[in-house]
Amino acid sequence: MKKAAKIRPFWYSDIWLFPKLITIITTLDEQGRVNAAPYSHIMQYDVMAKNPRMIVGFRQDSHTFKNICATGEFVVNCPSADHLDDMMETARFYPEGVNELEHTGLTAIPSLKVKPPTIKECPQIAECTVDEIIRLPKSSGIVIGNIEALVFDEELIDMPREARIRKMNLPIGLGDESRMDYFHAVNYAITQHRLGETPDGFKGGEVKLGMTWSDDALKTLMTIPPGVRQMVTEQTEQFAQEHNDDKVTLGRFQQLAEEAGMGADFFDRFREKKAG
Ligand SMILES: Cc1cc2nc3c(=O)[nH]c(=O)nc-3n(C[C@H](O)[C@H](O)[C@H](O)COP(=O)(O)O)c2cc1C
Repeated sequence: MKKAAKIRPFWYSDIWLFPKLITIITTLDEQGRVNAAPYSHIMQYDVMAKNPRMIVGFRQDSHTFKNICATGEFVVNCPSADHLDDMMETARFYPEGVNELEHTGLTAIPSLKVKPPTIKECPQIAECTVDEIIRLPKSSGIVIGNIEALVFDEELIDMPREARIRKMNLPIGLGDESRMDYFHAVNYAITQHRLGETPDGFKGGEVKLGMTWSDDALKTLMTIPPGVRQMVTEQTEQFAQEHNDDKVTLGRFQQLAEEAGMGADFFDRFREKKAG
């Protein structure tokens, strides 16, 4: 039996489990004083390279949000799991103007493109300027940030993915208990699941079926290279209709493939031609 839970404030951390990225955002106030605090309400916004942007959500009276509104710049630092205690220390409600990093083992170093500092111990960093600020009434301040630079420890950039995941050792945030105790996943088991779609695989999603297809016929259709899948679909449906079939079966599909010389050999040849 499923049951709807009550939606309380901070539902995203209270009841809904939202495994999240842990970041420490560094900013400067108008007087140039450093501020640092953890933020996990963060996600890609514009995924393309022309105008790459992230979206970050803040309490509107937080020092970080106020600094971003005042200076237009911030740095997103991703600490490794080795620095979870330092990260937690930066979450304390220190008075305005206090540099939380000085109460941790973390080191501020200059950023490449913006004035707020980078945290040296963080393997992955995004330097951002403000694109847009949205103040939700009686709720979060949403900042859409232009990514001026994505910065990494140099050796990480060309490292194979699994080695890079292990080396970065980023913790996963798993919410908190009434803002008192925070839960994180560390040293997680990494599993790999093969989808194996080719770069033009999205064309498969553009295929329109005009008839019902049996499961095995549909599975076989999915093995046809995406670039010609629509054409093969139409020809097969036309062939099935010519035989007064009310649905496309694997038998009819195979019959057409053989009659049209489109057996396995045909598609192998096609694949070779494309690759070459
Ligand atoms: C792991 C973690 C994630 C957090 N994520 C957010 C967040 O996404 N948005 C937010 O407003 N506060 C978040 N907080 C709470 C702020 O870090 C906290 O209110 C902090 O004192 C704000 O500091 P500031 O006023 O210097 O910006 C988070 C705290 C922790 C420990």
